[in-house]
Amino acid sequence: MNICVIGTGYVGLVTGVVFADLGNDVICVDKDEKKIELLKAGKSPIYEPGVEELIERGIEEGRLVFSTDINESIKRSEVVFIAVGTPSLPSGESDLSQVEEVAKSIALSLNGYKIIVNKSTVPVGSGNNVRDLILKYRNGKNDFDVVSNPEFLREGQAVYDTLHPDRIVIGATNHSAALKIVELYAPLERPMLMTDLASAELIKYASNCFLALKISYINALSQLCESVNADIALVAKGMGADSRIGPSFLQAGLGYGGSCLPKDVAALIATSQRFGCDASMLKAVQVINTEQPKHFVDKIKKALGGLDGKTIAVLGLSFKPNTDDLREAKSIEIIRYLLSEKALVKAYDPAAMENFKRFHPTITYANSPYDAAQDADAVVLITEWNEFKQLNLDRLRSVVKQPYLFDGRNIYDPTRVRRSGFCYEGVGRAHNGEAIE
Ligand code: UDX
Repeated sequence: MNICVIGTGYVGLVTGVVFADLGNDVICVDKDEKKIELLKAGKSPIYEPGVEELIERGIEEGRLVFSTDINESIKRSEVVFIAVGTPSLPSGESDLSQVEEVAKSIALSLNGYKIIVNKSTVPVGSGNNVRDLILKYRNGKNDFDVVSNPEFLREGQAVYDTLHPDRIVIGATNHSAALKIVELYAPLERPMLMTDLASAELIKYASNCFLALKISYINALSQLCESVNADIALVAKGMGADSRIGPSFLQAGLGYGGSCLPKDVAALIATSQRFGCDASMLKAVQVINTEQPKHFVDKIKKALGGLDGKTIAVLGLSFKPNTDDLREAKSIEIIRYLLSEKALVKAYDPAAMENFKRFHPTITYANSPYDAAQDADAVVLITEWNEFKQLNLDRLRSVVKQPYLFDGRNIYDPTRVRRSGFCYEGVGRAHNGEAIE
């Protein structure tokens, strides 16, 4: 199939390279010339395992090209994917200007029947708006259909998620357009769900907000665990063993970040309010997520007897492991709190330090976890990169000034850490370790 994907962010680029790998002819389009130059040279502008290999293979085999010429790319394609950004406006609503701009370009480039597939996360009703815009601006009477095909990929495992989705949602008003998209995904042999446009659009928000809700639920409970000396990891294990609940997204920590969950919660609140529906549950999800980092820093402050002049080693800056993405990363807020209390921060992250300098240029950046911990009053883990999971605790203990380890993602066994001579505090874990022994 001849496909064009407009927007080469995480969603667009990964979708494009995977479709090319499945044997389609794909043009990935972006207005950012530097990005397109990089991609033409076989380089990925995003840090994402497996993407660069697929770019190289697609280019070599002649099935994948990159272009800044949106009109020409649309003309050559029978299926056009919209995968541009929909950032949050201050009101929490999504800024749809990029989607609308693309819809106008599609309208002006229609030279035959095309299927327009929306992959950007857009509020309910946006598919109809895209259709109306194309009808308003289209050249001649060429026919088209609009399909909603939300994306559920996670950063850090975007290629895997695109190849092995739990489900593929295809929302359309025209059955034969939907079937064409079914055909495109058929090689993946994954479950597909055909719906109307509005339901498909809502499935995306409903899913992401439910994940955010699970995280805030467990984080709210983690605070109770600290008060009653229970261990949230055991509580989550016990809950997750119930097949109706399931174990995933019950990892207590510093709260959710990233490009999707915070934005999607805000957008669903805005949509609910626009239609006069109650959004109080989602607002509570947001409040808990905002409070979690502050609560964590308060614990550090209390344990150290104040933060003024204390050196804090921060391990992990990206919003989650295996990415250099800092969007809504909890590290930004936590370091802001630490600095406002006059602490000195030494940070280490395997991939995100360069990007982080934009937020906090004046902190010290270290070469390794041990370098960060040198003479520190406390070691604070924010992102659970694999390389932090097996730290040599004796070595760490030998370089720090004071043996405090604050584990913001509960990756360490408290008993083992305490045996190495550290005072350990996780999130929602028994203070004295008695529940673990
Ligand atoms: C998310 C959705 O999972 C994905 O389906 C959607 O397409 C985009 O948004 P992503 O933002 O890449 O993906 O990351 P994800 O792995 O879902 O983690 C989101 C945040 O939640 C991270 O900050 C992570 O640290 C946090 N998290 C996740 C928890 O705090 N606890 C958990 O149990 C799981």
